[in-house]
Amino acid sequence: MKPATIASTLLSCCAVAAAAAAVSPSDHELRIPTSYESAVLGRRILALTPLGTISTVFPQDKPSRNDVAAEARRPAGLDGMPYGLMEYISDCEDDELGNPTILAITIGTTFKNVVAGSNVSLAVQWTPPHPPAKRIESTQTGRRRRRSWLSYFLSLETNEGHHDVTPLPYSAANLPRFSLIGHLEPIKGGDDRQGDVGSRLARCFVKTHPDARYWLPGNHIHEAHFVRLVVEQIYWVGGFGDRAFIGWIPVEEWQKVTRDEWQKARLPGEKKGWKEWSVWEDL
Ligand SMILES: *[C@@H]1O[C@H](CO)[C@@H](O)[C@H](O)[C@H]1NC(C)=O
Repeated sequence: MKPATIASTLLSCCAVAAAAAAVSPSDHELRIPTSYESAVLGRRILALTPLGTISTVFPQDKPSRNDVAAEARRPAGLDGMPYGLMEYISDCEDDELGNPTILAITIGTTFKNVVAGSNVSLAVQWTPPHPPAKRIESTQTGRRRRRSWLSYFLSLETNEGHHDVTPLPYSAANLPRFSLIGHLEPIKGGDDRQGDVGSRLARCFVKTHPDARYWLPGNHIHEAHFVRLVVEQIYWVGGFGDRAFIGWIPVEEWQKVTRDEWQKARLPGEKKGWKEWSVWEDL
């Protein structure tokens, strides 16, 4: 055989072996989910997660707007700076497009920035309802349990044993999180508590956030409006990159996911007894 033929024979042999390995049912072969499969998980996370962090950008204050900044007693030097804060979120709309529903309180800094023209990003992370039965550190069984770097980081002391800090019961870096980037817009009829849309939104939002019934649209304390985050871009980090998709999910895929699909999907830790990092256990 000519060297070129040998090389191509070797190549085709190995390509076949690699293809066979990729479809092998063995646990050791990690298949990275597609962006669409990740979108399904993301839509489930959105439906099950009541909190997120909304980031906006402080407006450039033109002289004519100085009164607005003064009214908020905003320090100087914030123009163009990012600002993120926890907000209540829910997934209440009928259209099934995966646009989060938010109850905007007009006096909130997030929503003031939006009124001044800011786009938004909403960061959401998956929090497992159950801790894993087997942790990444379970490979250390029999050894003296070392303090995790996180417990050092969280506790201000390292010498006094009486001030113990409980570390996170799971590896958050191993779990999915994402950022939805877009803009906020009012929901037509959303503030009319007597109408179909408004009454349905209020019912749905209060189901997730019972305390929010005190600041629904039309309350006597704060001006409030139901708005939607119109999702334009999605950045997804599904966990560790050797087993999870990390990257941009096309918005068409995010919107295409059906309720049926995300209801059938399961996330790590939804059931008791899950193993956090099963590959490591085999090491
Ligand atoms: C918001 O995002 C859009 C792109 O979707 C962009 O055209 C617009 O300039 C952004 N607004 C601000 C205030 O940056």
